[in-house]
Amino acid sequence: MKLIEIQEGLGTFLVPESSIEEHIPRRSDEVFFNFHQEINRDLSVLALRAYGNINSKSELRVCEPLCGSGIRSARYALEAPTSSIYCNDINSNAVDIAQKNVNRLPKAIAKKILLYNMECNLFLQTLNVKDIVFDFIDIDPFGTPIPFVHNSIHLIRLHGLLAFTATDLASLVGLYPRALYAKYGVSQLETRIGNIHEIASRALITGIQHVGLTLGQSLLPIVTFYHRHFVRCFFIRNRGVDGVINRTGFIYLCKKCNTRFTNNLGEKENSCSICGASNGMVVGPLYLGKIQQSAYLSSMFDDEHLEKMGTEKRLKKCFSLMIEETLLDIPWSFDIPRLAKKVRAPVPPLTQVTKILKEMGYKSCNTHYSGTSLKTNATETELCSIISSLKP
Ligand SMILES: C[S@@+](CC[C@H](N)C(=O)[O-])C[C@H]1O[C@@H](n2cnc3c(N)ncnc32)[C@H](O)[C@@H]1O
Repeated sequence: MKLIEIQEGLGTFLVPESSIEEHIPRRSDEVFFNFHQEINRDLSVLALRAYGNINSKSELRVCEPLCGSGIRSARYALEAPTSSIYCNDINSNAVDIAQKNVNRLPKAIAKKILLYNMECNLFLQTLNVKDIVFDFIDIDPFGTPIPFVHNSIHLIRLHGLLAFTATDLASLVGLYPRALYAKYGVSQLETRIGNIHEIASRALITGIQHVGLTLGQSLLPIVTFYHRHFVRCFFIRNRGVDGVINRTGFIYLCKKCNTRFTNNLGEKENSCSICGASNGMVVGPLYLGKIQQSAYLSSMFDDEHLEKMGTEKRLKKCFSLMIEETLLDIPWSFDIPRLAKKVRAPVPPLTQVTKILKEMGYKSCNTHYSGTSLKTNATETELCSIISSLKP
């Protein structure tokens, strides 16, 4: 396999030459490397640094059990306050490249990384038998992370950091409802409820949290990032199930007046709080709590290390939108082109809609999910009449 050198973060690494061609890498590639995921790796380095800062920890023990060519782990060793990194892949060719990448690091950094060639769950179970616990576990698989959640939770220390990537967006957005239910336990998705990528992100969070609940643990999201073909979510592990169950429920859309409202798990009342109509459209069960924490996002945004990253500009833009999202605690966002189509009006500029909403006394913010969606405490009917009033 021909290898070429690339630069990412603070290092230079060897990757298969074939992976640099302009295609999204496939599972069948001999060794998987996706240069489009640089933004995911940059984000993860920043999240780990923020975790170290916020918790005053400088010797973080990390585990990356699906490491591919080892770039991510090498970057944690180089760029974050880490003491040791347990790094593994089932593919021996990937582990060979990862070893080459480790050998190229300065000796003091290289010796932090321990490389293994095992099946992921077997690897995690083996570490568990040895009573090793981690501050951070990073699960970055092909498709869904769900098969690896259970064993990760066993290895993460209390209040430790867990990160999961999902690339099975077709399932998460509800294109395959049976797959969505099988993997994430979310039985109903409805695009009319709001921006589908926020709902998909919540479906991923809900599925991961459900595994935590079976072990009596609450995984609480601190950073949720949707980008092109993946969703990435970071969680903190807490003991007990209340943290998640108290914030899980259903989103309803009233069929009569188009008001959205939520019910927590176990609440019987599902008639519209505005017009009283029942039999609304229902989506869920979904985690309805905060999926961004401003303390983490601000720490990542303000980190000077961001300036050394290839995706600095894109990440800064996303971080400022994600920080905005924390201002409105509403688990949906409105897709303006969809509403414009509904009222047969041209799609207005988002800034204009936001300005009118604010003049009317409503709160409104942009989101990182899409440049055409916004969160607001106004109802769909009010938004539709604003859009209609802007018709030329
Ligand atoms: C998406 S890639 C990882 C990319 C890497 N984290 C990065 O940032 O460059 C997924 C990796 O998981 C490995 N893999 C897939 N199934 C596995 C399993 N059951 N156990 C261990 N490794 C597995 C694949 O060989 C592949 O290298």
